[in-house]
Amino acid sequence: MEKHIKIFDTTLRDGEQTPGVNLNAKEKLMIAKKLESMGVDVIEAGFPASSVGDFEAVRTIAREVKNSTVAGLCRANQKDIDRCWEAVKEAAKPRIHTFIATSEIHMKHKLKMTKEEVKAKAIEMVKYASSLCNDVEFSAEDAYRSDKDFLVEVFGEVIKAGAKTLNIPDTVGYALPEEYFDFIKYIKDNTPGIENVDISVHCHNDLGLAVANSLAGVRAGATQVECAINGLGERAGNASLEEVVMAIKTRKGSFALDTKVVTEQIYSTSKLVSSLSGIDVQPNKAIVGANAFAHESGIHQDGVLKEKSTYEIITPESVGVIQESNIVLGKLSGKHAFSTTVKEMGIELSDEEMNEAFIKFKALADKKKNVTHKDIEAIVNNKISFEEVYKLKSFQINSGNKMVCTAAIVISKGEEEITEVAVGTGSIDAAFNGVARATGISAELKDYSIRSVSNGNDALGEVTVKIDDGQGSVIVGKAIDEDIMEASINAYINAINKKLDMGI
Ligand code: KIV
Ligand code: ZN
Repeated sequence: MEKHIKIFDTTLRDGEQTPGVNLNAKEKLMIAKKLESMGVDVIEAGFPASSVGDFEAVRTIAREVKNSTVAGLCRANQKDIDRCWEAVKEAAKPRIHTFIATSEIHMKHKLKMTKEEVKAKAIEMVKYASSLCNDVEFSAEDAYRSDKDFLVEVFGEVIKAGAKTLNIPDTVGYALPEEYFDFIKYIKDNTPGIENVDISVHCHNDLGLAVANSLAGVRAGATQVECAINGLGERAGNASLEEVVMAIKTRKGSFALDTKVVTEQIYSTSKLVSSLSGIDVQPNKAIVGANAFAHESGIHQDGVLKEKSTYEIITPESVGVIQESNIVLGKLSGKHAFSTTVKEMGIELSDEEMNEAFIKFKALADKKKNVTHKDIEAIVNNKISFEEVYKLKSFQINSGNKMVCTAAIVISKGEEEITEVAVGTGSIDAAFNGVARATGISAELKDYSIRSVSNGNDALGEVTVKIDDGQGSVIVGKAIDEDIMEASINAYINAINKKLDMGI
């Protein structure tokens, strides 16, 4: 039997440090539940000391997730560790993940601490964390640019202090694969007691080498890989979970290893994360990009038609990209056909979520002849994850190229109905100004995009709106509709409702 490599997902922590990503607690929980059902070993749910919101999100995830370990990140100080423990302690499998930088650059300029002080702090805080929790991970931040003999010393001591996992990050994505291999091997060969703990790799993608470096680390003896869905993360991101997992699976013969990830759920997880984070996946992204299984050239198409393996090294089905099934979903389709298709697509919904999605499907099928997988993806990924204060009742837009655009907007707030009229430089501007007047909330629009979910004139339009959250990040609002104006207004209202839900 192959040895099993642990997959530590940091989408909700390092991934949330992606510029412009700001997930609320309910969205984080939705992603955590999906990661759990996909079979991820460890979910790093957040950085509890960073904000009250993140603390609450980590605590909720810890309470709800049963099968995966739930980790919280904390700096190597008692206050952070206490806060982290408070957030994760109710988890079925809690983990405290504490870190301190060990490179000369970080110790001198950032921490203003000597080597001896850093080492003493690491030991003291791992000991303290271990007195609270029996699963403690220690990360040496900027490990790859640290003196390797100093690292061996620190790691040897933190193992004695109780660490069960040693993480060796390439924090700034500087390493080349063969160098990272040698580095991990050196630490493995020289650290006393390391055979009793997990060795973890955590690679950033500044040179586009995060996945290659993580795999090199695995070859050198790492037993855990830290990664994020769609490669989200600080700056250029982290190693992409889907690429790491599928490389290990596809080249099993070469690695003699496996992961516990249910790969058939990769695509739906990627879609969920992209929808909630508002960060699109580039079309040519490996494994989950729209073109990952598309064959454009005639020679390739001919080859694939004759024998798929000519140009496909992994099947679309193995990551949950399935061909439109033989059952055509339309207005006559019942709940059974709908739920079968949803399950075939690797999407797991509770009974309540399935009912909600079915109602939306029926409404769409009334207007659209064939409902495709892409439509279903859009329906389930656009579910509302919070209390909606404002709802669109109706709208009327007057627009043309030689006139001032006007919008009449009717919005409900509980029992109350609010009607406002506004002008704008275009129909969208007029509509958003109308919403701002009706809600009394004006939010700076940072980005607006629209895409067609599927093909054809009756395709659903998905609108993504990003508004300023006033705290250096953005709030993402989304909506789908066959009418792009309705989708636009609803996306803007969605962002405003989310802003209110977050108490901003
Ligand atoms: O990149 C890094 O070094 C980190 C640590 C905090 C684990 O994210
Ligand atoms: Zn990182």
